[in-house]
Amino acid sequence: MKRTHNCGQLRKEDVGQTVTLAGWVDRRRDHGGVIFVDLRDKFGKTQIVFNPDYNAEVLKTAEQLRNEYVIYVTGKVYAREEGNTNEKLSTGDIEVKADTLEILNAALTSPLAINDPNEECKENDDLRLQYRYLDLRRPWIQKKLLLKSRFLKAVYDFFYANGFENIETPCLCKSTPEGARDYLVPSRVNPGKFYALPQSPQQYKQLLMIAGMDRYFQVAKCFRDEDLRADRQPEFTQIDVEMSFVNQDEVMEMFDKFVTDVLGKVWNFEPPKKIRRMKWAEAMLKYGSDKPDLRFDLEIHDVSEIGAKSNFGVFKNCVAAGGKIRGIAAKGCVDFTRKQIDELTAYVGKYGSKGLVWMRVKENDEVETQVGKFFTTEQLNELRDAVGAKCGDMMFFIAGPEKTAATAMGQLRLEVARIKGLRDPKKREFVWITEFPMFEYSETEGRYMAMHHPFTNPLPEHLQMMLDGNLKDCNAEAYDLVLNGVEIGGGSIRIHNPEVQEKVFRLLGLSEEQVKEKFGFFVDAFKYGAPPHGGLAFGLDRVVATMEGEESIRDYIAFPKNTSASSPMDKSPSEVDVAQLNDLHISINMLDPKKNA
Ligand code: AMO
Ligand code: AMP
Repeated sequence: MKRTHNCGQLRKEDVGQTVTLAGWVDRRRDHGGVIFVDLRDKFGKTQIVFNPDYNAEVLKTAEQLRNEYVIYVTGKVYAREEGNTNEKLSTGDIEVKADTLEILNAALTSPLAINDPNEECKENDDLRLQYRYLDLRRPWIQKKLLLKSRFLKAVYDFFYANGFENIETPCLCKSTPEGARDYLVPSRVNPGKFYALPQSPQQYKQLLMIAGMDRYFQVAKCFRDEDLRADRQPEFTQIDVEMSFVNQDEVMEMFDKFVTDVLGKVWNFEPPKKIRRMKWAEAMLKYGSDKPDLRFDLEIHDVSEIGAKSNFGVFKNCVAAGGKIRGIAAKGCVDFTRKQIDELTAYVGKYGSKGLVWMRVKENDEVETQVGKFFTTEQLNELRDAVGAKCGDMMFFIAGPEKTAATAMGQLRLEVARIKGLRDPKKREFVWITEFPMFEYSETEGRYMAMHHPFTNPLPEHLQMMLDGNLKDCNAEAYDLVLNGVEIGGGSIRIHNPEVQEKVFRLLGLSEEQVKEKFGFFVDAFKYGAPPHGGLAFGLDRVVATMEGEESIRDYIAFPKNTSASSPMDKSPSEVDVAQLNDLHISINMLDPKKNA
């Protein structure tokens, strides 16, 4: 038996044909002796009718049908009677009257509502993941993976068309310093030694440039043992790219083209030919984030100078201690209630702010605030004009160390946008963030760390500054591509001069021995003639989810992990046999982490 058509294919023109369809019973309805079945496959649904007047024999078999049975049906295509057509189905003009029916497989009652008419998943996430193969049968979930598949095709086409070679790199490797914890794999033949699963193919792709491959791309699995969130999975996929003999502009231009040629085509829209660029410092000042959501304005302003002049202790002392005051005009929010303001104060508290000053702009642009007595009227007006507030607006101010004031205000900006519904889900705002700081001071480590990774080149004009030991002001040739407030990709121009690389390692506090131990092979490779090179990696799952306006990448991964990094379906991670452990020279010493902290 062979299918003649799929379940999304038949149209009015096919009326009169005898066809064979196969698929799953999406729904069975019994209308007093006449049975209607919606037969479903990847392509759509077709209504099958089992009618005693048409074929009494086959109706008997149809009575056994339940949801999710797998069947073969042969029958004749009929036009549906007027009034009975279904506009929601591509096949809604026709139905197939069954001549033969073969049940290929029965099915237990599905624990998930696969045919929910509202296309909702009402079950909890773990149940969905436990029965992910049923979850994926839901057409609206399946669609997401099919979209990703189409996107991948366009990705491959783009890179081949632009002279990139697709080269695989190992999954069993030496740990790469991307900043997260490594997943480790014990080596049986090398007792006591471990591979790391790659956090990214960073070093390999650079070695491929040294090998003369010129342009590389790979759809690469990456593994990071970090705290999971909606847009983070322990195992995810990067579209990983590296190019030789290029500068930062050339890399970004290639990806401007990628956005137009790939995202524009797959999602059928017209992105700007040249994506706007914003320096990191500007993004942090105006949006309080290195991944600003530019679908709405709500710009942040620095009002440190005005605040310092006032008699308000919180402001004055903050600036005197080297801190900053940041403010926004929340448009049309003058009627926020005390309760709402208290909630917002608690909200910014989560991001380290010690409080939140609010001021209402009333009629005649008059400023009303509880802390009014600490300010002259001129100062209040200056604050109002500095943040661009008008009658009907609420102003908010946060004082603190620069990073705290910026990020807490950035979060407040997002929260106000959420409350006021300012994010237009149809908008797609891309922006390149450039000139990231080269180093970032870690309070916990008590030293400077690489903000991107230690192979990132300083801006050529900042090289001397770095060599002179000024790490605070040294920026890197690093860039992130941001879409609607999500970092969808990031990369940099790499250091190709071995002396500069050595210096960066020293500045990061790594001794010669440590460098040799950790990156010896890598540093050595640069001594044999390295071309200037740079690249970037996109988070594949994030690109697709963000383009679809979704925060969670989970539905775009066939078999994702839950928030505890486990799989409710195959129950991984799981215990293993003692024999397996013995082979690996491993014994488990289960300490209670709480008792032994
Ligand atoms: P980076 O660490 O910025 O750069 O990663 C690149 C992109 O990968 C995505 N991403 C993730 N997606 C899902 N789950 C995760 N846990 C996760 N972590 C990162 C993000 C991010 O922008 N080797 C460098 C790239 C380079 O310099 O060429 C790198 O890995 O979308
Ligand atoms: P306090 O002096 O702590 O009573 O605070 C007076 C007002 O200033 C309150 O409305 C606080 O929310 C606000 N406030 C306190 N600290 C800060 C800060 N760092 N930034 C902004 N507002 C603050």
